[in-house]
Amino acid sequence: MKIEILTIFPEIFSGFLSSSLIKKGIQKEDLSISFTNFRSFAEPPHNKVDDTPYGGGAGMVMKPEPIVAAIESAKKKLPDAKVILLSPSGEPFTQHKAKKLSSLPELILLCGRYEGIDQRAIDLVVDEEISIGDYVLMGGEIPAMALIEAVTRLIPGILGNEESILHESFADGLLEAPHYTRPAEFRGAGVPEVLLSGDHKEIKLWRAEQGLKLTQSRRPDLYSKKDVQKKGS
Ligand SMILES: C[S@@+](CC[C@H](N)C(=O)[O-])C[C@H]1O[C@@H](n2cnc3c(N)ncnc32)[C@H](O)[C@@H]1O
Repeated sequence: MKIEILTIFPEIFSGFLSSSLIKKGIQKEDLSISFTNFRSFAEPPHNKVDDTPYGGGAGMVMKPEPIVAAIESAKKKLPDAKVILLSPSGEPFTQHKAKKLSSLPELILLCGRYEGIDQRAIDLVVDEEISIGDYVLMGGEIPAMALIEAVTRLIPGILGNEESILHESFADGLLEAPHYTRPAEFRGAGVPEVLLSGDHKEIKLWRAEQGLKLTQSRRPDLYSKKDVQKKGS
Protein backbone atom coordinates (compact mmCIF):
# COMPACT_ATOMS: atom_id res chain seq x y z
CA MET A 1 0.00 0.00 0.00
CA LYS A 2 1.17 3.52 -0.80
CA ILE A 3 0.22 6.26 1.65
CA GLU A 4 0.75 9.98 1.26
CA ILE A 5 0.33 12.03 4.44
CA LEU A 6 -0.50 15.72 4.15
CA THR A 7 0.59 17.59 7.25
CA ILE A 8 2.39 20.71 8.38
CA PHE A 9 4.21 18.58 11.01
CA PRO A 10 5.82 15.61 9.19
CA GLU A 11 8.42 15.37 11.99
CA ILE A 12 5.74 13.98 14.35
CA PHE A 13 5.89 10.72 12.34
CA SER A 14 9.63 10.06 12.55
CA GLY A 15 9.62 7.63 15.53
CA PHE A 16 6.48 5.94 14.22
CA LEU A 17 8.03 5.18 10.83
CA SER A 18 11.37 4.03 12.17
CA SER A 19 10.10 1.44 14.68
CA SER A 20 8.40 -1.91 14.86
CA LEU A 21 6.32 -3.52 12.11
CA ILE A 22 5.74 -0.27 10.21
CA LYS A 23 9.50 0.03 9.73
CA LYS A 24 9.70 -3.63 8.63
CA GLY A 25 6.77 -3.15 6.22
CA ILE A 26 8.57 -0.21 4.63
CA GLN A 27 11.84 -2.17 4.42
CA LYS A 28 10.06 -5.11 2.77
CA GLU A 29 8.38 -2.65 0.38
CA ASP A 30 4.90 -3.87 1.36
CA LEU A 31 4.34 -0.32 2.49
CA SER A 32 5.45 3.08 1.25
CA ILE A 33 4.73 6.24 3.25
CA SER A 34 5.65 9.73 2.11
CA PHE A 35 4.74 13.29 3.04
CA THR A 36 3.46 16.46 1.49
CA ASN A 37 3.82 19.52 3.67
CA PHE A 38 1.11 21.85 2.54
CA ARG A 39 3.01 24.81 3.93
CA SER A 40 5.16 24.54 0.80
CA PHE A 41 2.00 25.12 -1.27
CA ALA A 42 1.19 28.36 0.58
CA GLU A 43 2.13 31.76 -0.73
CA PRO A 44 5.66 32.98 0.00
CA PRO A 45 7.27 34.79 1.70
CA HIS A 46 5.36 33.75 4.86
CA ASN A 47 3.79 30.51 3.61
CA LYS A 48 0.80 31.11 5.85
CA VAL A 49 -1.63 28.16 5.92
CA ASP A 50 -4.23 29.62 8.30
CA ASP A 51 -6.42 32.69 8.62
CA THR A 52 -9.12 34.10 10.89
CA PRO A 53 -12.62 32.59 10.60
CA TYR A 54 -15.36 34.39 8.67
CA GLY A 55 -18.13 35.22 11.11
CA GLY A 56 -15.68 35.62 13.97
CA GLY A 57 -14.94 33.22 16.77
CA ALA A 58 -11.90 31.69 18.41
CA GLY A 59 -8.96 30.11 16.63
CA MET A 60 -7.73 29.97 13.07
CA VAL A 61 -8.93 28.08 10.02
CA MET A 62 -6.73 26.32 7.45
CA LYS A 63 -6.89 28.17 4.14
CA PRO A 64 -8.31 26.30 1.14
CA GLU A 65 -5.66 27.16 -1.49
CA PRO A 66 -2.64 25.28 -0.03
CA ILE A 67 -4.80 22.27 0.92
CA VAL A 68 -6.31 21.88 -2.55
CA ALA A 69 -2.97 22.49 -4.30
CA ALA A 70 -1.25 19.93 -2.04
CA ILE A 71 -3.93 17.30 -2.66
CA GLU A 72 -3.81 17.91 -6.40
CA SER A 73 -0.04 17.42 -6.30
CA ALA A 74 -0.36 14.23 -4.16
CA LYS A 75 -2.98 12.93 -6.61
CA LYS A 76 -0.43 13.16 -9.42
CA LYS A 77 1.72 10.67 -7.46
CA LEU A 78 -1.20 8.48 -6.32
CA PRO A 79 -3.97 8.93 -8.89
CA ASP A 80 -6.18 6.12 -7.51
CA ALA A 81 -5.92 7.18 -3.88
CA LYS A 82 -8.97 7.77 -1.72
CA VAL A 83 -8.55 11.12 0.06
CA ILE A 84 -9.37 10.79 3.77
CA LEU A 85 -9.61 13.75 6.13
CA LEU A 86 -9.05 12.92 9.80
CA SER A 87 -11.77 14.87 11.57
CA PRO A 88 -13.78 14.70 14.82
CA SER A 89 -16.92 15.04 12.71
CA GLY A 90 -16.02 12.09 10.48
CA GLU A 91 -17.45 8.57 10.43
CA PRO A 92 -16.32 6.71 13.59
CA PHE A 93 -13.32 4.48 12.79
CA THR A 94 -13.87 0.76 13.38
CA GLN A 95 -12.11 -2.55 12.72
CA HIS A 96 -14.62 -3.13 9.91
CA LYS A 97 -13.59 0.16 8.29
CA ALA A 98 -9.89 -0.71 8.76
CA LYS A 99 -10.48 -4.03 6.97
CA LYS A 100 -12.18 -2.27 4.05
CA LEU A 101 -9.37 0.29 3.71
CA SER A 102 -6.68 -2.43 3.90
CA SER A 103 -7.67 -3.70 0.46
CA LEU A 104 -6.98 -0.35 -1.22
CA PRO A 105 -3.67 0.18 -3.05
CA GLU A 106 -3.31 3.90 -2.24
CA LEU A 107 -4.45 6.35 0.43
CA ILE A 108 -4.01 10.09 0.94
CA LEU A 109 -4.44 11.16 4.58
CA LEU A 110 -5.12 14.80 5.32
CA CYS A 111 -4.22 16.01 8.83
CA GLY A 112 -5.98 19.16 10.01
CA ARG A 113 -4.71 21.61 12.65
CA TYR A 114 -6.12 24.72 14.34
CA GLU A 115 -9.96 24.87 14.23
CA GLY A 116 -10.03 22.74 11.09
CA ILE A 117 -10.11 23.22 7.31
CA ASP A 118 -12.11 25.63 5.13
CA GLN A 119 -15.23 23.66 4.15
CA ARG A 120 -14.82 24.50 0.44
CA ALA A 121 -11.53 22.62 0.30
CA ILE A 122 -13.16 19.62 2.01
CA ASP A 123 -16.06 19.68 -0.47
CA LEU A 124 -13.66 19.87 -3.42
CA VAL A 125 -11.01 17.27 -2.66
CA VAL A 126 -11.95 15.00 0.26
CA ASP A 127 -13.60 11.62 -0.41
CA GLU A 128 -14.41 10.79 3.18
CA GLU A 129 -13.90 11.94 6.77
CA ILE A 130 -12.89 9.61 9.60
CA SER A 131 -12.92 10.23 13.35
CA ILE A 132 -10.89 8.09 15.75
CA GLY A 133 -13.17 8.85 18.70
CA ASP A 134 -15.41 11.32 20.45
CA TYR A 135 -12.70 13.64 21.72
CA VAL A 136 -10.69 16.47 20.17
CA LEU A 137 -6.94 16.23 19.57
CA MET A 138 -4.63 19.06 18.52
CA GLY A 139 -4.16 17.72 15.01
CA GLY A 140 -4.83 14.88 12.61
CA GLU A 141 -1.33 13.36 12.90
CA ILE A 142 -2.08 10.97 15.79
CA PRO A 143 -5.40 9.94 14.19
CA ALA A 144 -3.49 9.28 10.93
CA MET A 145 -1.00 7.06 12.80
CA ALA A 146 -3.86 5.17 14.49
CA LEU A 147 -5.50 4.61 11.12
CA ILE A 148 -2.22 3.51 9.49
CA GLU A 149 -1.52 0.95 12.25
CA ALA A 150 -5.04 -0.47 12.21
CA VAL A 151 -5.15 -0.68 8.40
CA THR A 152 -1.64 -1.83 7.55
CA ARG A 153 -1.51 -4.67 10.11
CA LEU A 154 -4.36 -6.24 8.10
CA ILE A 155 -2.31 -6.24 4.88
CA PRO A 156 -0.91 -9.73 4.24
CA GLY A 157 2.83 -9.80 5.01
CA ILE A 158 2.92 -6.94 7.53
CA LEU A 159 2.27 -8.96 10.72
CA GLY A 160 4.54 -11.80 11.75
CA ASN A 161 1.61 -14.01 12.79
CA GLU A 162 -1.43 -13.39 10.64
CA GLU A 163 -3.50 -15.99 12.45
CA SER A 164 -3.79 -13.64 15.43
CA ILE A 165 -5.94 -11.30 13.30
CA LEU A 166 -8.62 -14.00 13.00
CA HIS A 167 -9.20 -14.32 16.74
CA GLU A 168 -8.65 -10.83 18.08
CA SER A 169 -11.12 -8.26 19.39
CA PHE A 170 -13.79 -7.10 16.93
CA ALA A 171 -12.92 -9.81 14.36
CA ASP A 172 -16.27 -11.51 15.10
CA GLY A 173 -17.90 -8.51 16.77
CA LEU A 174 -16.74 -9.53 20.27
CA LEU A 175 -13.89 -8.61 22.60
CA GLU A 176 -11.09 -11.12 22.94
CA ALA A 177 -10.63 -13.42 25.97
CA PRO A 178 -7.86 -12.55 28.49
CA HIS A 179 -4.31 -13.82 27.85
CA TYR A 180 -1.84 -15.53 30.19
CA THR A 181 1.81 -16.53 29.84
CA ARG A 182 4.55 -17.98 32.08
CA PRO A 183 5.00 -18.15 35.06
CA ALA A 184 2.06 -20.40 35.99
CA GLU A 185 1.87 -18.56 39.33
CA PHE A 186 2.52 -14.85 39.75
CA ARG A 187 2.23 -13.10 43.12
CA GLY A 188 -0.19 -15.72 44.31
CA ALA A 189 -2.38 -15.64 41.18
CA GLY A 190 -2.65 -18.74 39.02
CA VAL A 191 -3.73 -19.35 35.44
CA PRO A 192 -7.22 -20.70 34.56
CA GLU A 193 -6.91 -24.52 34.78
CA VAL A 194 -8.32 -25.10 31.30
CA LEU A 195 -5.41 -23.25 29.67
CA LEU A 196 -2.97 -25.75 31.21
CA SER A 197 -5.06 -28.77 30.20
CA GLY A 198 -3.84 -29.15 26.61
CA ASP A 199 -7.48 -29.80 25.59
CA HIS A 200 -7.78 -27.51 22.56
CA LYS A 201 -11.51 -27.98 22.16
CA GLU A 202 -12.14 -26.96 25.77
CA ILE A 203 -9.69 -24.02 25.47
CA LYS A 204 -11.52 -22.76 22.38
CA LEU A 205 -14.85 -22.99 24.21
CA TRP A 206 -13.45 -21.23 27.29
CA ARG A 207 -12.05 -18.39 25.17
CA ALA A 208 -15.35 -17.96 23.32
CA GLU A 209 -17.22 -17.84 26.62
CA GLN A 210 -14.79 -15.35 28.18
CA GLY A 211 -14.97 -13.11 25.09
CA LEU A 212 -18.73 -13.14 25.31
CA LYS A 213 -18.78 -12.33 29.05
CA LEU A 214 -16.26 -9.51 28.62
CA THR A 215 -18.26 -8.01 25.76
CA GLN A 216 -21.49 -8.24 27.75
CA SER A 217 -20.02 -6.45 30.77
CA ARG A 218 -17.82 -3.85 29.06
CA ARG A 219 -19.44 -3.27 25.67
CA PRO A 220 -23.16 -3.91 25.92
CA ASP A 221 -23.49 -1.91 22.67
CA LEU A 222 -21.54 -4.62 20.81
CA TYR A 223 -23.17 -7.46 22.71
CA SER A 224 -26.67 -6.31 21.90
CA LYS A 225 -26.04 -6.47 18.17
CA LYS A 226 -28.16 -9.26 16.70
CA ASP A 227 -25.42 -11.33 15.08
CA VAL A 228 -23.35 -11.32 18.29
CA GLN A 229 -26.28 -12.63 20.32
CA LYS A 230 -26.84 -15.40 17.79
CA LYS A 231 -23.20 -16.48 18.03
CA GLY A 232 -23.36 -16.43 21.81
CA SER A 233 -26.61 -18.41 22.11
C1 LIG B 1 -8.27 21.00 17.23
S1 LIG B 1 -8.86 19.92 16.02
C2 LIG B 1 -10.23 20.82 15.36
C3 LIG B 1 -11.51 20.50 16.08
C4 LIG B 1 -12.72 21.20 15.46
N1 LIG B 1 -12.72 22.61 15.72
C5 LIG B 1 -13.99 20.59 16.02
O1 LIG B 1 -14.53 21.12 16.99
O2 LIG B 1 -14.45 19.56 15.50
C6 LIG B 1 -7.66 20.05 14.74
C7 LIG B 1 -7.57 18.84 13.85
O3 LIG B 1 -7.25 17.69 14.61
C8 LIG B 1 -7.74 16.53 13.96
N2 LIG B 1 -8.56 15.78 14.95
C9 LIG B 1 -8.82 16.17 16.22
N3 LIG B 1 -9.56 15.26 16.85
C10 LIG B 1 -9.76 14.24 16.00
C11 LIG B 1 -10.46 13.00 16.09
N4 LIG B 1 -11.11 12.65 17.17
N5 LIG B 1 -10.44 12.18 14.99
C12 LIG B 1 -9.81 12.55 13.87
N6 LIG B 1 -9.14 13.73 13.73
C13 LIG B 1 -9.12 14.57 14.78
C14 LIG B 1 -8.53 17.01 12.75
O4 LIG B 1 -7.71 16.85 11.59
C15 LIG B 1 -8.80 18.45 13.06
O5 LIG B 1 -8.95 19.23 11.90
